[in-house]
Amino acid sequence: MLVSATEMLQKARAGKYAVGQFNINNLEWTKAILLTAQELNSPVILGVSEGAGKYMTGFETVAAMVKAMDESLGITVPVALHLDHGSYEGCYKCIKAGFTSIMFDGSHFPIDENVAKTTELVSAAHHLGLSIEAEVGAIGGEEDGVIGKGECADPAECKQIADLGVDFLAAGIGNIHGVYPDNWEGLSFETLEAINKTVGEIPLVLHGGTGIPDDQITKAISLGVAKINVNTECQLVFAEATRGYIEAGKDQQGKGFDPRKLLAPGFEAIKAKVKEKMELFGSVNKA
Ligand code: 13P
Repeated sequence: MLVSATEMLQKARAGKYAVGQFNINNLEWTKAILLTAQELNSPVILGVSEGAGKYMTGFETVAAMVKAMDESLGITVPVALHLDHGSYEGCYKCIKAGFTSIMFDGSHFPIDENVAKTTELVSAAHHLGLSIEAEVGAIGGEEDGVIGKGECADPAECKQIADLGVDFLAAGIGNIHGVYPDNWEGLSFETLEAINKTVGEIPLVLHGGTGIPDDQITKAISLGVAKINVNTECQLVFAEATRGYIEAGKDQQGKGFDPRKLLAPGFEAIKAKVKEKMELFGSVNKA
């Protein structure tokens, strides 16, 4: 069932668990995530970056595939189709394409410009029943060629953006996209606590979910995080499982080269990773 992410995240925040956003890249990714959510009776958010949207030939293709697959698989748990780190133009494209949720990442603009653009997009999204996420304080690391420094967000700026009516807020707390370097200092719970106290009940979003230790995830949820984004970890397990299949020579045995066989271990690896995360985030049986 395709829905906006507002209600599922408000419930998560109140119930002290988090809903996973898992980024999709193709049909296998989408099917693996939808089936796992249904099996675990968990709400889920499918994240689409602008780069992944382009790779899949555009947001219309993505929306059509997700809608049709959601129906043909008989998915009854709440599913949000969400633009990840959207540009101003990208947000409008996804609204038009039939996404149910968008993220406007105006964190690289001066705060006044971030406020002006976010205000306009909140109104455009809400007019059509979509949810909208905004960001304050850059998330570090590289995501689709966009490099962020990983600064911690200013709680006063978070309040300013939250008060514009956004449905959930991403705030930098030392998190970065991709694999964390060995010298990473961990999440800044001091920053998260200050933000949580300042912004009220709005669900907070933790980007860069890959590789954050379980105890830090649990603590972040206790401090208002209700949405956690995971991308790289699914890519890593897919690559590892596919490599294992090929290195074992299985693609050369019988019809092992058939893409439905070749991609099956990676597909199963994504399912297992998504299950592990949903259990950790506490969203199982919360649909
Ligand atoms: P990771 O790739 O580090 O899991 O981050 C995902 C993310 O935050 C997408 O917005």
